[in-house]
Amino acid sequence: AAVKQYQFDIQVKNVSRLCHAKPIVTVNGRFPGPTIYVREGDRVIVNVTNHAKYNMSIHWHGLKQYRNGWADGPAYITQCPIQTGNSYSYDFNVTGQRGTLWWHAHILWLRATVYGAIVIMPKQGTPYPFPQPNMEQIVILGEWWNTDVEEIVKQGTKMGLPPNMSDAHTINGKPGPLFPCSEKHTFAMEVESGKTYLLRIINAALNDELFFAISGHNFTVVEVDAVYTKPFTTQAILIAPGQTTNVLVQANQMPGRYFMAARPFMDAPLPIDNKTATGILQYKGIPNTVLPTLPQLPAPNDTTFALGYNKKLKSLNSAKFPANVPLKVDRKLFYTIGFGKDPCPTCINGTKLLASLNNISFVMPEIGLLQAHYFKTKGVFRTDFPDKPPTPFNYTGAPLTANLGTRHGTRLSKIAFNSTVELVLQDTNLLTVESHPFHLHGYNFFVVGTGIGNFDPVKDPAKFNLVDPVERNTVGVPTGGWTAIRFRADNPGVWFMHCHLELHTRWGLKVAFVVEDGPGADQTILPPPKDLPPC
Ligand code: C2O
Repeated sequence: AAVKQYQFDIQVKNVSRLCHAKPIVTVNGRFPGPTIYVREGDRVIVNVTNHAKYNMSIHWHGLKQYRNGWADGPAYITQCPIQTGNSYSYDFNVTGQRGTLWWHAHILWLRATVYGAIVIMPKQGTPYPFPQPNMEQIVILGEWWNTDVEEIVKQGTKMGLPPNMSDAHTINGKPGPLFPCSEKHTFAMEVESGKTYLLRIINAALNDELFFAISGHNFTVVEVDAVYTKPFTTQAILIAPGQTTNVLVQANQMPGRYFMAARPFMDAPLPIDNKTATGILQYKGIPNTVLPTLPQLPAPNDTTFALGYNKKLKSLNSAKFPANVPLKVDRKLFYTIGFGKDPCPTCINGTKLLASLNNISFVMPEIGLLQAHYFKTKGVFRTDFPDKPPTPFNYTGAPLTANLGTRHGTRLSKIAFNSTVELVLQDTNLLTVESHPFHLHGYNFFVVGTGIGNFDPVKDPAKFNLVDPVERNTVGVPTGGWTAIRFRADNPGVWFMHCHLELHTRWGLKVAFVVEDGPGADQTILPPPKDLPPC
């Protein structure tokens, strides 16, 4: 195994898109940022130096960071932010994982422009468990705002309203020719007839679940969130913020130019956002004058496609890569996803929106929770987060607008080391409906079941897939429905879990687990690094 070192300089840089130039926060002046390219088993050291006026922290999304939450990155959860002029080295081992993951800023909304890919190659001499591609290509989907993103968030908070929708979607930072002044900001990929390409697709968008397709070409899905899947063929993929998807594409069509396109899946009764980012797949030797054709993407509200697509995702579950689904459950958790309003005298409507799990809207602490846990600092958080909602109700019945007594608190759930956990996330019709991509730090989990309506604790578990459910780190909870996950709590630390829609996270749709130390000397949280940023 090798040691791979990177230097990340957080710098502000002027970038122009959609006929506007604006300063954005970047890593090393690049947008999207540099790729971390490692092999399974490597040790990675990324020294981050902050030259910008914003506080910064970087999260290595999907890396398990065994016993090593110090390198996980979410601000005020596992570390205090890296202040202007300071540095911090994220030092971690990449063990037992291979595939595509990504990194992003984990503070405020800075991940709008601070993100990049992590490619973990299998160990030397270990082939992929699918046909070897001739070439590989990273495809990062994102969003672009013409104005300063932090300003938009501040405005939104002041007014008690959701911040504006983005001005464009992007592919590798480029919106493509359907947007003004964007001809030169178009991602293009050249292919040769007869060859096979592995696309490593990442959804780095702040608030949009996306469909992605290439006209005339099918995808074979082979991996999600750095876990191999049973291969299946599809015309389009669906990918939520935080998720990654690897697909094989064969250059087997008439040589020409083909559009690739990304557009939101919106099943919420909000203004439909149908901005389409496009890029070009170009066969070698074909002149740029040939007009490409747009792919057929599912309609923005095509719930049938979405449910069907997610159903096809299954763990590879081979002899080499078995799916070790916990069959017995030690701890059952049931969390409702709710929305409410808080009084806000300075807001336009006199109220502001908030979001909650089990009616608790999470309050960010002022010092890192992992430090508070490790050094046993009193008064920073409580560990009485309820395992169930206060009162059962018809979760997906008629829309309710009442706050239903949402409370605030830095309340965490304590989990015994190595216990098996089942968590059912239940959407509700409180105030609004929208699907929620939930991300758990420090773990992968198995998605054992999902459904529409209220979760039935008797009938639904009987239908759980305990053989080859998909294993991942971010999963969508469907609008008006539920998703059940299972994992073994074998990684001690404080681990964040939140909706990966930035808007919802900001409103409080988040919680953290305190996984206790195990009995063995090698089952405890490692000591903190010396350069851990102070608060
Ligand atoms: Cu990708 Cu807590 O985030």
